[in-house]
Amino acid sequence: MPHDQQETPYLDAVLRYRRAGYTPFHTPGHKLGKGAPEGLRELLGDPCLRVDIAMAGGVEDTRESTHLIRLAEDYAAEAWGADRCWFLVNGSTSGIHSLVLTLCGPGDEVIIPRNAHKSMLAGLIFSGAVPVYLEPEVDPLWGIPLTVSAEAAQRALAEHPAAKAIFVTSPTYNGLGTDLAAVADAAHAAGVPFVTDQAWGPHLRFCPELPVDAMTAGADAAVVSTHKLISGITQTSVLMARAGRTNLARLDSMVAMTQSTSPQVLMYASIDAARQQMATRGADLWRGAIEQAQWARHELNGLPGIRCLGEEALLRKGVASFDPTRLTISSRDLGHTGHELETVLRDDYRIAVEAADPLNIVLNVTYGDSHADLERLVAALRDYAGRRSRRAVGASAVGTGLLGHTPAFTRQALSPREAFFAPSEALPLVECATRVSAEMVTPYPPGIPILGPGEEISPQIVAYLEEASAAGLKVHGPEDRALRTLRVVT
Ligand SMILES: Cc1ncc(COP(=O)(O)O)c(C=O)c1O
Repeated sequence: MPHDQQETPYLDAVLRYRRAGYTPFHTPGHKLGKGAPEGLRELLGDPCLRVDIAMAGGVEDTRESTHLIRLAEDYAAEAWGADRCWFLVNGSTSGIHSLVLTLCGPGDEVIIPRNAHKSMLAGLIFSGAVPVYLEPEVDPLWGIPLTVSAEAAQRALAEHPAAKAIFVTSPTYNGLGTDLAAVADAAHAAGVPFVTDQAWGPHLRFCPELPVDAMTAGADAAVVSTHKLISGITQTSVLMARAGRTNLARLDSMVAMTQSTSPQVLMYASIDAARQQMATRGADLWRGAIEQAQWARHELNGLPGIRCLGEEALLRKGVASFDPTRLTISSRDLGHTGHELETVLRDDYRIAVEAADPLNIVLNVTYGDSHADLERLVAALRDYAGRRSRRAVGASAVGTGLLGHTPAFTRQALSPREAFFAPSEALPLVECATRVSAEMVTPYPPGIPILGPGEEISPQIVAYLEEASAAGLKVHGPEDRALRTLRVVT
C-alpha cells in the first residue's frame, strides 16, 4: 500500500513531543529554553526552543529507536521515486561524501564533471579515488559552465571501462540540465552506477513542466538539497538510491559516518513537511513559480542594458533542459559586474540575491515569492537601468577575454588524496611549471577548476593564471588567492 503523502509522521511526532511537556534530562543544556540566554530566546522564540532537541532526545519511542525517521524516509523514497532515502543534516555535501565512499575506493577511477561541487574533491580525498574529468563548455556570452554532454559521458565510459561510477551535476547552478536518460543508458550499458548531483533540483520530480528529475531518468542515486529550493530548513538534504548497482547497506553505513550523531529534530521535521508539501501540492505551486519567473524574465529582457538567461540556453552544446525558475541576470552592458549589481540591489533596493560573480547575479524564484515580490525586482532593475544608462559608461567585461582559451588538463600525476597528504611548499607562480599542484585553483568566471590537487602544472596553466590574476578574476581554492604563489608537492 502506498503511503498517504498528506501525512507527516516525523513532524507530527515533534509537535507531540512539544505538547507532552516532558521534563528534559537530556541535551541541549538550555533545557527546552528554560535556561536560554535572552538574546537566543528573542531570536528563536519559545516554540522553537521547546523542540530544540537531538533525534535521540525523545521524539522516537525510546532513545535507541529509529522507527519514525525510517518511516518518514520511506514516505520520501516513495515521493522521489527511490528504493531508499536518507534525511541528511549536513547538506548535499554529506550525501556526495557518502556516495563517493560507497562507490569508490583507493585508486578507483570515477568519472565526474570538471566543475563538480567542491564536496566531490573532499569525497575523492576521503576515498582515495582518482577523477576522470568530463569537461563542460563555457557559454561565451554569460561566462557560465554549460552541462556536460551525453556524448562526452559515453566517450569517457568507453575510454575508462574500469570506472566505478559516473557523476553528473544537473541542473547546474544556472538551471541547465544534462540529457540524464542518455547518460543513464550509457552508464548502464557499461555496467556502471550513475549518480546525479541534483542539489539544485529538489523540486523537479513534482512538476511536469520542470525538467525531468534524476530518478525518472534512470539514475541509481541522487542527492537533492531540500534547503535550496523547497521548504527544508538550511542544511537539510535528501539522499536517494535504487537497489541493484548501489549497495544500499554500505551506503547506509556511509551516511551514518558523514552525519552528526546529534541530528536536530527541527531539520528532520522540515524535510518531512517539505516532502508532504511537494508530493501533495508541488505541481501547482511550481506552475505558479514558473509563471512568475517567466513574467519577470520577459520584463527584464525589455530593460535597456539588462539581460536575463532564458530558453535560448537550450541551443548550447550539451544543454538538454532549462529550469525557468532560475534567473541569471547580467547588467554587463551597463558596465557593472555581478558583484556591483548585487551591492546596488541590496543597498539601494533592499533586494537580496542568491549569488553574484564577476559577470552575473543569480536569483531563485519559488512558490514562496508573490507577484508583488517579482514586481519589486523588476521595478528596482528598471530604476537602476534608467539611472545607469544616463551615465554613458563603458562595458565592463571582467575576465571575458580569458574565457575562450582555457588551458588543457595535463595529467593526474598523483591522486587528490596522495597530493593532499604529500609534503608541499608554496612557490612563486612563475616557478611552478612542471611541478605537481597540491591545491585546487578555480577562477570565476567561469567557475571551472584550472588545476586540482595531484595535477601537473603546464607553462600554459602558469601563463593563464598570471593573466587571470592580472585581470582581477576571483580565484577560489588556493591558499594565496592573489596567486602570487601556488602550493606544490615537494
Ligand atoms: C551542485 C552542488 N552540489 C552540491 C552542493 C552542496 O549542497 P549543500 O549546500 O546542501 O551541502 C551545492 C551547494 O551549493 C551545489 O551547488
